[in-house]
Amino acid sequence: MSELKLLYLSRAEVEAVGVTMPEIIAALEVAFGEHGQGKAEMPPKPGVHSRPDAFIHAMPAYIPALRAIGVKWVSGYPANQARGLPYITGLLILNDDETGLPLAVMDCTWITAMRTGAATAVAAKYLARPDSRVVGVLGCGVQGRSNLAALNVLFPLKRVMAYDTGPGNAGRYAAEVRERWGLEAVVVPEPRQAVTGCDIVVTAGPILRTPHATIQAGWLDAGAFASLVDYDSYWSGPAMRETDKFCTDDIPQLEHNRSLGYFQEIPPIYASVGELVTGRKPGRQSPGERTMTCNLGLALDDMATAPIVYRRAIERGIGTWLPL
Ligand SMILES: NC(=O)c1ccc[n+]([C@@H]2O[C@H](COP(=O)([O-])OP(=O)(O)OC[C@H]3O[C@@H](n4cnc5c(N)ncnc54)[C@H](O)[C@@H]3O)[C@@H](O)[C@H]2O)c1
Repeated sequence: MSELKLLYLSRAEVEAVGVTMPEIIAALEVAFGEHGQGKAEMPPKPGVHSRPDAFIHAMPAYIPALRAIGVKWVSGYPANQARGLPYITGLLILNDDETGLPLAVMDCTWITAMRTGAATAVAAKYLARPDSRVVGVLGCGVQGRSNLAALNVLFPLKRVMAYDTGPGNAGRYAAEVRERWGLEAVVVPEPRQAVTGCDIVVTAGPILRTPHATIQAGWLDAGAFASLVDYDSYWSGPAMRETDKFCTDDIPQLEHNRSLGYFQEIPPIYASVGELVTGRKPGRQSPGERTMTCNLGLALDDMATAPIVYRRAIERGIGTWLPL
């Protein structure tokens, strides 16, 4: 028997592989389609908790159409930032769907950032107006960047309204947006200015069990779409209940989170992103609808992305082969 081996990819190597956002969006759309047809396997994520507010979650998934199977083992430790360490770290194991053998172990930080943006874009494809040009971003960090990168693939964006509470963050973000994407970028001092007048709104600040609920009813324009990357932390109940269609990437997981004390003020759930992709529920039906998705982030997203990284890494000779 030949020596069994797996490919190890560090954080820098995963990024250097160069998988593009359009590729990730396309893979996620297939994965959501499988999810919507009940074909994907994704058990609820178990977690262990060694410090207050910290978690390490296991996120397994199998997507038959992509022959993608494996698990992400991801931790979030809020106190890390004070130590100069990343809040989110973790590894992903990709397996062979025929033999179960581990094919690769890779850092999951870049994949987590990119797939979350891509999931917003897939939802937006069905829920946002195709002519959306102005995006409001509240929380100009990693997700503020990857969500914009993904939306910029599908929409004819022109301008970004950037709001962040951290000193200098929105300014740095705006400079990057102009440089990287050639879009107009306006730093706004009030959160409302990144909501009213925008076609698409992305909230990506901290996730809080008790929402700060800054965004009020009457702020989101008719015809706009919002992606709640930070759960319902940014939105007041009346503001969320103004939407015509409130969606999520996974209804059972949202219900589970609701039982833990999150999402106490949300409106009835209209559809999952998978139901939109498969056409079981229509997405936007008129230009005046207000639509919203709250994607929780699924193992499915990671597992749709990992095989592309693996295959491309082999093609490009990136990574280290290790004996099993
Ligand atoms: N739903 C998902 O799938 C998913 C996946 C990954 C991360 N997240 C969540 O997305 C959020 C952002 O993650 P990130 O990696 O971009 O973090 P980050 O630390 O890179 O960026 C967060 C930014 O938000 C700013 N901020 C804090 N409070 C704010 C407020 N009230 N208004 C505006 N800005 C504020 C910070 O100054 C910072 O610039 C986190 O809550 C994270 O847990 C969700």
